[in-house]
Amino acid sequence: MATMGSLIGLVNRIQRACTVLGDYGGGDNAFSSLWEALPSVAVVGGQSSGKSSVLESIVGRDFLPRGSGIVTRRPLVLQLHKTDEGSQEYAEFLHLPKRRFTDFGAVRHEIQEETDRITGKTKQISPVPIHLSIYSPNVVNLTLIDLPGLTKVAVEGQPESIVQDIETMVRSYVEKPNCIILAISPANQDIATSDAIKLAREVDPSGERTFGVLTKLDLMDKGTNALDVLEGRSYRLQHPWVGIVNRSQSDINKNVDMIVARRKEHDYFATSPDYGHLASKMGSEYLAKLLSQHLESVIRARIPSITSLINKSIDELESEMDHLGRPIALDAGAQLYTVLEVCRAFERIFKEHLDGGRPGGDR
Ligand code: GDP
Ligand code: NA
Ligand code: MG
Repeated sequence: MATMGSLIGLVNRIQRACTVLGDYGGGDNAFSSLWEALPSVAVVGGQSSGKSSVLESIVGRDFLPRGSGIVTRRPLVLQLHKTDEGSQEYAEFLHLPKRRFTDFGAVRHEIQEETDRITGKTKQISPVPIHLSIYSPNVVNLTLIDLPGLTKVAVEGQPESIVQDIETMVRSYVEKPNCIILAISPANQDIATSDAIKLAREVDPSGERTFGVLTKLDLMDKGTNALDVLEGRSYRLQHPWVGIVNRSQSDINKNVDMIVARRKEHDYFATSPDYGHLASKMGSEYLAKLLSQHLESVIRARIPSITSLINKSIDELESEMDHLGRPIALDAGAQLYTVLEVCRAFERIFKEHLDGGRPGGDR
């Protein structure tokens, strides 16, 4: 019997294949509808609220550019693929398909370079996403999207329109009904001023696809705590709030590694007089689990509609293959086969689920 975990893995592979095919299909085809039907997780929040840091903690690896000011200037679509225990961890960019990165410092460098290739070495932004896949035994199967931070004013070197441009870009991701929103707010600012919550509330008024994440708990003023937020009294969401302690800038400068950082975060909650009673439901590892579980339930609820889209894609793929015949670019051809294979595997596993007496569609 296939597990739901393997279904998420398949969804991930389909998303990846759709991404590649999207370049060839001109956008408006069965793959783009399929991509839109599959859930992903986007990270939103104000500039320097800790978005990139949260993503890194979820992945358990240092690989994203972080820091003060506008660092993330293009969307980063990050696909995590869980691989067999003991296999080597590596990363691969869509724009560099032949190269396997095993040095995650080099991944960070390439993200910076690839950002600059489109935007120039400026503080400008671009809506053209960078696609990165990470293959590792230590991740959960997830697609995560890192986005530029929402801002209030243009700084030197930025056009006046940048505030609106960033919001429009972020909105284009989070308004999709299948987008799960990771709304990041720093604990050292009043939640009433949170850009993340403001936007999430607009696009998801019922809060059913918003996860509230509170970062920088360690930076709150002495004598204050965030229990009103974490216990849902300040702003109620359907999902529980998760508190996070990421690495500080000085930790980053000192190269405090991820394992040490996770242990520090764990200890922070375990020994905290304010949050001790919530310790098992706080922190980045818990957040990763929560997201993965939620994704499973979303996929389970969508099995019927995903299956029908997959069938449509298979039909379209088959006719495309007939149509294209030989002269197709090698990569595109290989991807077409991959997506076809994956779609068929998906169908088969769904069927097993149904035959196993577990009804697929909850809705
Ligand atoms: P982004 O702009 O939202 O992507 O934020 P970054 O992840 O780049 O973080 C901005 C700065 O805040 C960096 O210097 C981080 O080290 C720091 N930071 C993020 N989260 C925390 C946290 O939980 N605690 C502390 N002390 N610093 C944090
Ligand atoms: Na930043
Ligand atoms: Mg960032």
